[in-house]
Amino acid sequence: MEKFIPVVVIKELPEVDTILSALKANGINCAEITFRTACAKDAIKLACEKYPDMSIGAGTVINKEQCIDAIAAGATFIVSPGLSRDVAEVCKEHNIPYYPGCVTPTEIMAALDLGITTVKFFPANVYGGLNALKALSAPFSQVKFIPTGGVDRGNIDEFLAFDKVAAIGGSFFVKEALENK
Ligand code: 3PG
Repeated sequence: MEKFIPVVVIKELPEVDTILSALKANGINCAEITFRTACAKDAIKLACEKYPDMSIGAGTVINKEQCIDAIAAGATFIVSPGLSRDVAEVCKEHNIPYYPGCVTPTEIMAALDLGITTVKFFPANVYGGLNALKALSAPFSQVKFIPTGGVDRGNIDEFLAFDKVAAIGGSFFVKEALENK
């Protein structure tokens, strides 16, 4: 999987080009396009057509319908803020990686029951940041985390230095890419 997962919100389709070209120019070949806007499905489709060499996934997927739409549009990974068994089931059927949001031992155990060993840790800053990840890694040494939410240039390196961190998610990648364009 890609190490950096920009959380992308597309309000209007032309932003797909603006944002994805900026990310690419900054060496980031991934975009998690969120189902927070009406055009999310179309944005994923367009992104997959125009940026076939990028890893395009769907974020903020909170139900089965959105998951089916995202996969039909071409998403190659699915991210949720929490854990949905329905979404996990659809992803499994399509053999697509699913990264559910898990911040408690019970949620991590639910993910493990579903065969998922990489989870989103969201909102990372609110749920204890790196200290919490380290504490959770003691009983769950098989689990990898994607800290997201409140991660920025100021704290990214400490997360990256921890070997249980599979990747970093965040909207700041988009902000930075657009600033450096
Ligand atoms: C998400 O959905 O993953 C978050 O909105 C990203 O959080 P951030 O904006 O603090 O990076």
